[in-house]
Amino acid sequence: MTEQAQAEDRSTLAELLQGHPPMARELPGFATDRLPANPAELFGAWLTGAFAAGVLDPQVVTLSTVDTDGCPDARVLVLRGIDVPGAGWVFAADADSPKGRQLAVRPKAAITVYWPLLGRQIRVRGLVETASPEESALDFLDRSPWSRAAALVGHQSEPLTSLEVYENAAREARRRLEADSKTITPGHTVYTLRASEVEFWQGDATRRHVRVHYSRNEVGATSGAWARTLLWP
Ligand SMILES: Cc1cc2nc3c(=O)[nH]c(=O)nc-3n(C[C@H](O)[C@H](O)[C@H](O)COP(=O)(O)O)c2cc1C
Repeated sequence: MTEQAQAEDRSTLAELLQGHPPMARELPGFATDRLPANPAELFGAWLTGAFAAGVLDPQVVTLSTVDTDGCPDARVLVLRGIDVPGAGWVFAADADSPKGRQLAVRPKAAITVYWPLLGRQIRVRGLVETASPEESALDFLDRSPWSRAAALVGHQSEPLTSLEVYENAAREARRRLEADSKTITPGHTVYTLRASEVEFWQGDATRRHVRVHYSRNEVGATSGAWARTLLWP
């Protein structure tokens, strides 16, 4: 590509980005005078509202972890549950995946969601607890055959030499499941992000965003009363 073509490409992309301001639509309000004491309860209400409003896959969230060099890493995954009394965000992953290994060394994480249709962002930070092998096995057996077969293949995030190699491994995983439907992937692990901080962010087309921050009394606390404050946008 010539330098001129590269410059044209850059300016077309800049026009594309600048021509699409985010949240330029009518968005819901955020009544901050009637908030629950527990942020997980508010998360549940917002999640229920997101499904009702037709947000696509509102249960898919970004999980951020940190590697051994202190470098952040992030990927999306599916929320498996919310422990409202304990303010826990539950998800499942393979302990042998990069995120699983990062959590084994540094059991701290953040979860972020953004629901464009509603202009809502939620940020959660805290310590991550690992469920017992028995609990994780039960979660695994509760999954669809497709999901179990996919997990059984293993090697997540390792380099793959060809799609054919993957197809063969997937066929073998399906065969193992057919032979014994109780087969489990030992690495399958349920994790709970026990929140110590949660922020609810309601966007506004005119940039009068409303933010509410919850925190527990102590940094990294996994129990105790929640304090709540508004934040400057
Ligand atoms: C919609 C969607 C849902 C996903 N759900 C999960 C999930 O629940 N658990 C999981 O481990 N990976 C899930 N993934 C894959 C992850 O984004 C990621 O590619 C994979 O876990 C490897 O991440 P890692 O290399 O950081 O460990 C999902 C991806 C997408 C696009």
